[in-house]
Amino acid sequence: MRYNEAMAGRIPQQFIDELMSRTDIVELINEFVPLKKAGREFTACCPFHEEKTPSFTVSPAKQFFHCFGCGAHGTALGFLMDYEHVEFIDALQELAERANMPMPADSFPVHDQRQDSPTLYPLLEEAAAWFHQQLHHHPKAPSAIDYLKQRALTGETAAAFEIGFAPPGWDNLLRTLGKNREQINLLREAGLIIEKEQGKHYDRFRNRIIFPIRDMRGRVVGFGGRALGDTPPKYLNSPETPVFHKGLELYGLYQARKAVRKLERIVIVEGYMDVVSLAQHGIGYTVATMGTATTQEHLRRLFRIVPEIVFCFDGDRAGREAAVRAMEIAIPEIRGGHQISFLFLPEGEDPDSQIQQEGRKGFETRIAKSVTLSTFFFDHLMTQTDISTIEGRARLVELARPHLLRMRPGVLREMMVARLRELSRLETVKLGADNRKATHGKAIGKKQLFTGNRAKNTPSPLRLMIALLLQYPGLAPLAENPRRFRKIGGAGANLLTEMLELLQANPELNAGAILERWRDRSEGHYLAKLAQWKPPFDDRTGLEAEFKGALRRLEQRIEELRTEELLVKADTEALSQEEKEELQRLLKGHKQ
Ligand code: UTP
Ligand code: MN
Repeated sequence: MRYNEAMAGRIPQQFIDELMSRTDIVELINEFVPLKKAGREFTACCPFHEEKTPSFTVSPAKQFFHCFGCGAHGTALGFLMDYEHVEFIDALQELAERANMPMPADSFPVHDQRQDSPTLYPLLEEAAAWFHQQLHHHPKAPSAIDYLKQRALTGETAAAFEIGFAPPGWDNLLRTLGKNREQINLLREAGLIIEKEQGKHYDRFRNRIIFPIRDMRGRVVGFGGRALGDTPPKYLNSPETPVFHKGLELYGLYQARKAVRKLERIVIVEGYMDVVSLAQHGIGYTVATMGTATTQEHLRRLFRIVPEIVFCFDGDRAGREAAVRAMEIAIPEIRGGHQISFLFLPEGEDPDSQIQQEGRKGFETRIAKSVTLSTFFFDHLMTQTDISTIEGRARLVELARPHLLRMRPGVLREMMVARLRELSRLETVKLGADNRKATHGKAIGKKQLFTGNRAKNTPSPLRLMIALLLQYPGLAPLAENPRRFRKIGGAGANLLTEMLELLQANPELNAGAILERWRDRSEGHYLAKLAQWKPPFDDRTGLEAEFKGALRRLEQRIEELRTEELLVKADTEALSQEEKEELQRLLKGHKQ
């Protein structure tokens, strides 16, 4: 499930409703896939599978897209999720940005649980200030200053990155900031102290150089500490806390945004010292992950800021292996206008040592010469197969295909497919349908619901009414007192009742908003199928007549059910006077 309940609870339904009503699916999709008008709908060749004749249609009335070829379908939100391979929340955010609607506060439960513990921020800020102070005033500070000097860091750099010093000893910070129980609990929650036994704590960072980690908004969220002595580990990081998530934060991003007015690219390096040292030499646009691999969240965050990301790796085997992993993470994230490339340093060097040797110019030359993702991709695959043989070229296609399928459709992917054709000398390399879509395709197939001989295959009035409501939600007031339809029983009747109640209370909802409301419910799939129906009439009068016809049939059905109910009751127990009259009326009505 892509959209979890916690999120559903956090994003007000109203927000999604309004967003759907402000969004035009035709306009949105047209930006990614040029659409042609065809009657009441728009068509194009489907972006989710390969085809030569268009079977992808977008309906402005229903705010819904559907491909008769592969079965892909959904709302504007669903389109973004599938097309860009993004999660619900990210698609929502992108739509909101387009619609100029600020996201509701609290809408990032996974990304941003920080609202949960606002009290940690001031404490972390205090701790950062205290560490920084110790670098200047603690009696043992000279050892730390010496170390920084030996690493050729200037005072200016130390100030810019607010580098600090955690003095040796078990409770320096604890004694300073842990004034009472509550403070101690907060220090523990912030990962600054560790509980050894019931109620007894000690400082996490001892005798270390401290790198405060700020989030994009500039709040201190955690720390990295480098050992001054020989006590391992060399680097110690804050643990995951309510405000610190290593899979999201990047060391140096805040400083980079401050230092470089118009960021054009960002270089991802491995270590704190690399970021700091590169910045000191004039390369202020680098960030580091904190002892973990780069995640898709990291890349998404960066691609919102810059169009170009350069991964920097050591030149050894470990570096190449890390590059392969980074490539796999990056493939689904890259899209038109983005560039990812890989810089491999000479063996035995890291960015810090390299820039100290050759300075800014030399390093920037290396950045300029970094290999693009597509080059690295094919180079890497070709180390695994010999393309001088037919078998080797066939293997190349097989190796490449799953990766290419994970890419967003678009020019870059097409060009990589073209390159694969060249290398494999196979003219007809086809990616085939997107895996995730293939299952959908089977479930729905090319057959449209309700089409063909309508006399032979009359849709049930229930289904027809639901389908018509999706077509034109303005019909809802025609069916008064929706609760009576529950009598009919079954999921369809409950769904109709619920939709009618919803639309009568919220007449402004469009089809997209309705479908979004059912996104994660079991009936959502059923609704999406009904949304694919093309009514055999265009105009509102036609729709209305059809709706009223179905409504009449449903009302008849309700009367039949009531009649049966009363007849059974008359057989088994006595009817009241009122019931007798009702039955009379019903029986008369049926004869007419
Ligand atoms: P490196 O071991 O490559 O260190 O770790 P470095 O950056 O070159 O450090 P110096 O130059 O010896 O000071 C790179 C990164 O890996 C993480 C840290 O984020 C570090 O910056 N790391 C490394 C840890 O988290 N723990 C460790 O014990 C070592
Ligand atoms: Mn180093």
